[in-house]
Amino acid sequence: MKFIIEGQKPLRGEIKVNGAKNAALKMIAASILIEGKTILHNTPQIVDVENMLKIADKIGSESVRRGDVVEISQNKSDIFKLPEALTGALRGAIVFIGPLLSKHGKAVLPVPGGCAIGRRPITDHIDILGKLGVRATKEGDKYYFEKIREPHGTVQLLAPSVTATENAIMYLCVGQHEVLLRNCAQEPEIDDLIAMLNDAGAKIRRVGGKNINIIGVPKLNPVDHTIIGDRVEAGTWIVAGLLLGNPLKISGFNPEHLAEPIRLIRKMGGIIDLEQNAVRVKKSTMRSTQITTQAYPGFPTDLQSPFGLLLTQCNGRSPINETIFNDRLKYLDELKLMGARTKNISVHKAEITGPTPLVGKHIHSTDLRAGATMVLAGLIAEGKTIVDNAQIIDRGYQEMDNKLSAVGASIVRK
Ligand code: EPZ
Repeated sequence: MKFIIEGQKPLRGEIKVNGAKNAALKMIAASILIEGKTILHNTPQIVDVENMLKIADKIGSESVRRGDVVEISQNKSDIFKLPEALTGALRGAIVFIGPLLSKHGKAVLPVPGGCAIGRRPITDHIDILGKLGVRATKEGDKYYFEKIREPHGTVQLLAPSVTATENAIMYLCVGQHEVLLRNCAQEPEIDDLIAMLNDAGAKIRRVGGKNINIIGVPKLNPVDHTIIGDRVEAGTWIVAGLLLGNPLKISGFNPEHLAEPIRLIRKMGGIIDLEQNAVRVKKSTMRSTQITTQAYPGFPTDLQSPFGLLLTQCNGRSPINETIFNDRLKYLDELKLMGARTKNISVHKAEITGPTPLVGKHIHSTDLRAGATMVLAGLIAEGKTIVDNAQIIDRGYQEMDNKLSAVGASIVRK
């Protein structure tokens, strides 16, 4: 599938973001722990969510979707092996491990898939589960997990891995133990998962930033939860608005979840006003800056590529340090084809000099967020841009083309 874009159309109006992909995926996994129905509102209609629901159904759940509401029935099955093909389709499938271990004391994970953004080891998952009394062995292209002893006391994650934190939380929320997890990730989607689990009867408390205390409970009850807005989708539209906003309002999310990107935008001279659950942005003349991606609350790696495009239109030299993943700068080669002045220094470092006009070309989406960035590049380029391999964008953005067309962009799906 491809998107065909005629560039340089001003964007005016409002885009309401959908529910957070990286919260929804984990809540679907958590639902297998819940006795009775799990009802999720504001569930994005995107490929990764549909695949996550298919995995849940293959291991004993029954999910029904009505618009943005998903209902998942209690999972009574004794299946603990994840299906290979679907698990290979998305990295998020890894978060079924914690719930499966909690229910069955064992789990089998085919090597997880995901974007082409670099090596996706699961060392942090194996390490923290090991500290919680779970043995992991690899045979061929599968990982075998088995509970060996009860978890207890204080344990520390090797690194603030988002999905490793979520696997540990979901492994611990049911049972007869109390555990303090240290060095946990702090992404807002984790706190939304905690809120959903606590609504179901769990006793999970974030104590002082990176520490999470969990008192196991006998069971989790039916829950009805509304997923927070997707801050990464919002950040993607904020870049579009800074490039073409006339003005552009982005709603349906908590601007506090983008505090660092918004701080940076203001430092660069971007016009951005905060409203209740929304921001309003305008096309702005901006100064260069340095972007260093970090775990939350630092600058999010998922917005590194959209901001890299923004920097091609800013005055001056902008260093980029992608510290989280080791292959998330490939999109710069595509922008260079369009006329951007970029220099790749290493797998983690690059430099962008602006402003440079971009000319429409036939370009490719290398990963989900880079694909969205290619669409944004087409929106500002002179002439026609064809974004190939665009189906990868549907993994994480609901109706990107329809949302952009509704605020004035010329974009068609082929
Ligand atoms: C989550 O991935 C998100 N995915 C990613 O979003 C996001 O970029 C990332 O967190 C960082 O914020 C989901 O939530 C489904 P990590 P995750 O474990 O948990 C290394 C998107 O576009 N690492 O925090 O896999 C890893 O290689 C996606 O929505 C290990 O070395 O990220 C990376 O360099 C892309 N061993 C770094 O840590 C491990 O066991 C951060 O990974 C796990 C991770």
